[in-house]
Parts: sequence; C-alpha cells; structure tokens
Amino acid sequence: MSTSGETEILRIESVAFGGQGVTRAASGRVLFVRGGLPGDRVEVRVGKGRRRHAEVRLLRLVEPSPERVAARCAHQGVCGGCPLQGLDYQAQLREKQAMVTDAWQRIGGLAVERVDPILPAERLFEYRNKMEFGFSDQAWTETPDPEQPAEFGLGQHVPGIYSKVFDLLECHLQSPWTARLLAEIRAFVRTEGGGAGAVWNVRTQQGFWRFVVLRESRATGERLLNLVVNAAGDPRVEALAARLLERLPGVLSGIVSTVHAGSGMVATGQLDRVLHGDGLLRERLGGLTYELAPQAFFQTNTEQAERLFALVREHVGAEPVRTLLDLYCGTGAIALLLADRAEHVTGVELVPEAVASARRQAELNGLAERVEFHCGDVLDLLRSQALPRPEVVVVDPPRGGLHAKVVAHLLELAPRRLVYVSCNPATQARDAALLVAGGYRPVRLSPVDMFPHTFHVEAVATFERVG
Ligand SMILES: C[S@@+](CC[C@H](N)C(=O)[O-])C[C@H]1O[C@@H](n2cnc3c(N)ncnc32)[C@H](O)[C@@H]1O
Repeated sequence: MSTSGETEILRIESVAFGGQGVTRAASGRVLFVRGGLPGDRVEVRVGKGRRRHAEVRLLRLVEPSPERVAARCAHQGVCGGCPLQGLDYQAQLREKQAMVTDAWQRIGGLAVERVDPILPAERLFEYRNKMEFGFSDQAWTETPDPEQPAEFGLGQHVPGIYSKVFDLLECHLQSPWTARLLAEIRAFVRTEGGGAGAVWNVRTQQGFWRFVVLRESRATGERLLNLVVNAAGDPRVEALAARLLERLPGVLSGIVSTVHAGSGMVATGQLDRVLHGDGLLRERLGGLTYELAPQAFFQTNTEQAERLFALVREHVGAEPVRTLLDLYCGTGAIALLLADRAEHVTGVELVPEAVASARRQAELNGLAERVEFHCGDVLDLLRSQALPRPEVVVVDPPRGGLHAKVVAHLLELAPRRLVYVSCNPATQARDAALLVAGGYRPVRLSPVDMFPHTFHVEAVATFERVG
C-alpha cells in the first residue's frame, strides 16, 4: 500500500453485498469501491471524517486483478446490472460463498453443522425469463453531442442518475431477441409514437410511454410483451403491436398493455388490453405447468429456480409430514412442489394477484385438494391463529427478512423443522440468531448462485427444534 495526498493505492479484498469492491484504507476505514474487483490494485480518494466506512470512487485501476476476464457486454461500467461480469466465474462463486458464511459468523455469531459449497448456475448468460426496461425523456449518453442531443432513452437507469436511462442495445442476461424488440419499439416511438414529448418525464410526471416488460419461457417457447403506459384506450399501443408483429414475425406469442398513471417508478398497473394472444405466459418448472398473468410474480431464472427448489426439498427431508406451511409463498411454487411431501400444504402471501395465481396453478396441476393459499400478512395470520399447526415450515421472505414478531410466533408454533430460503445473507443471519436463541439448531446451510454476474446470492438454511 502506498499513500499520496488524500489518495491511496490499495488492493481490493472482496466483494460487498451490493457489488462494490471492499478494501481498507491506512486509517483502518473500510472503503466500498464501485468497479473494483478482488485482486485489483486501485487508486482511490480515501476522504476524511470519523465514519468507519465510506463509498469512494475508483480514480485509477493501477493493476488489474489476475481474476479479471473480458466482460461480454458493451454497457459494462454504465449499467449497474452485472457488477461482477468482469470477474472469473469461479471467483464470483468464492465471493458469494463468503458473503453468506461471513454474514452468519459476523451478524449471527453462528456455526452451522454443515455448510455446502455454493450451488453454481449451469447457464451463465441468457438466464433471465423477465426484464423490465424504462422510458425516459432524458437519454443518458457517455459522450453527449450538443449538436444532436439524444431524443429519449429506452433501457436501464444509470446507477445514481435516476431521471435518465441509457439506450440498451444488448443485454446478455436475456435472449438476444429482446434487444431487437427494443430497437423496433424505439423506432416506432420516435416516429408514430410521439417522440421524446410522449415519453415519461420524472420531473413533470407526464408522458405516455413508461415501461416495457418482456417475459419468456424457454420450456414452452412463449414470449410475452407488456407495454406499460399512463392512459387507457390510446390507439398507439395497437399500432405498435401491429408493427411488432409485422416486423418481427413469430417472435411474440402475446402482447398486452397495462396502465400505470401514478408517480411510482414501478412497471405495474391495471391490465388495459390484450393485443395479441391470450395475455398469459405458459411456463414449466419442476414438472409443473404455470399460466402466468403479465404482472404475476415468478422466479426470474427458471432453470436455477428448479435447482433451488430441488435443494429446498432436500432440506425439508424425506420424512412424511402431515402439515407444512409455506410462508411468503408468492405464486406458490414451493408449496406446489412440496405437495407430494405432506398431507396438507398451506401457503401464505400478501399480494392478492400472487395468491390468485397460486390458486390457479394448483387447479391447473390438480393439486387444489392438497394445497391451499391464504391471502394476508404473515404476522397477522400467525397472530390470529388462522393457520394450521405445522410440523415443517418453509419461509422465503423478501430482502428485509422476518419481522422479530414473526420469529416469536414461529417459536410458539414450534415446528420440528424450519427451512429458511433467503435472498439476503445479512437478514437471514440476524433471524438465524433469534431462532437459535429460541431453541433451534442450524443443521445445514446451502448458498446458491441464482444470478451470475450480479451480487445477488440466495441461501437455504435448515433449523431443527432442540428437544
Ligand atoms: C422472495 S418472494 C417469495 C417467492 C416464492 N417463494 C416463489 O417462489 O414464488 C417473497 C414474497 O413475500 C411476499 N410478502 C412480502 N411481505 C409479506 C407479508 N408481510 N406477508 C405475506 N407475504 C409477504 C411478497 O409479495 C413476495 O411474493
């Protein structure tokens, strides 16, 4: 390590859950460096102040890590989607394994009897079955040309610059047809669609075109486009649908439009019209068939979700179970896949559309007799004792993990086994400590890489009741 003025040359030691490289300044301060990868020697401005950690900018890559590989995507460095694409996949796996085990040691203070090596993804690119792209009347360009300002953007937000999006020309997480489709949509909006003036503006909260959501099932070959706009009944969506079907024959099996007039930057809303097909996407996962409405939640990497759920089955174990609860069940995938392991399975989910979808999938797969779904807040339902007493509980909460009161109720229910599926090692480790304090033993921890090149990591943990 060498020091010059306020800058220091440091070696990146690891990757944070967030994708930044982590290093330590001479003062001991922990620095998070966007764009830094483990093994890189980087020059950064370390800054002053008493805070024990800080986000700093990478000023210069002094010496690249030997684990660096060429990134495949031209947008690498601008798009925040794949911060690890420039890191060899084996090194990505090592870092993700460490994110999970470090959190369990540091936050949970826990040792687990069995920690599995991380389950790698088989497919490293083109694995996403759903992508959302935003419109903005302000396009972000790396080299702005004052003579020819870009009209509008359709793609992804540049991290930290929320009002602008860059024109996405390629994305290797989804199949190549998506970029072709975006190019056609851009061309239409530029000409017949009203141009930049008709595109959503975050400041004025005006503009017709808002989001494009693409879904694909590799198993069934279906592809669904959802155009999210701010008003119903506009003939431009029909004209665009007709243009896409003519220019890209056979690419889309369905096109729908959704209206979202509110200020929230989310690609959801009320279904407006089905413009092509029946408005549904058929998908297959783990031997079951799903019919998904455009807004229905579904795991975004189908093939790896299949492997994740096979692992959940292993964690649940082969012993016969009378009653099993699947809390935070989304579209019910785990509950349905565990239907053959228990006499009765109950799923709980907050979002009514997801519950409706889960019930539909149960019907579709002939499982409605054995699997039922409750719509509501997990805490409320536990509090009101509306749920059956389970022998086994599976939880798959959002990033924030379990509310402490949910943990308290689970301890009262006292299932013999609890399987915790998590997308955030820090909250899982925090909750694990509460479960251990309440009389459970962590017997197995299995990290899973669902999303190569991103910083995301999942982990399945099993707890057994002591005594
Ligand atoms: C990580 S997803 C689980 C996905 C699900 N296992 C699947 O594969 O379809 C978390 C789910 O918890 C739901 N959720 C969030 N807060 C909730 C709450 N308080 N009560 C019930 N469900 C909740 C979300 O709507 C989301 O569907």
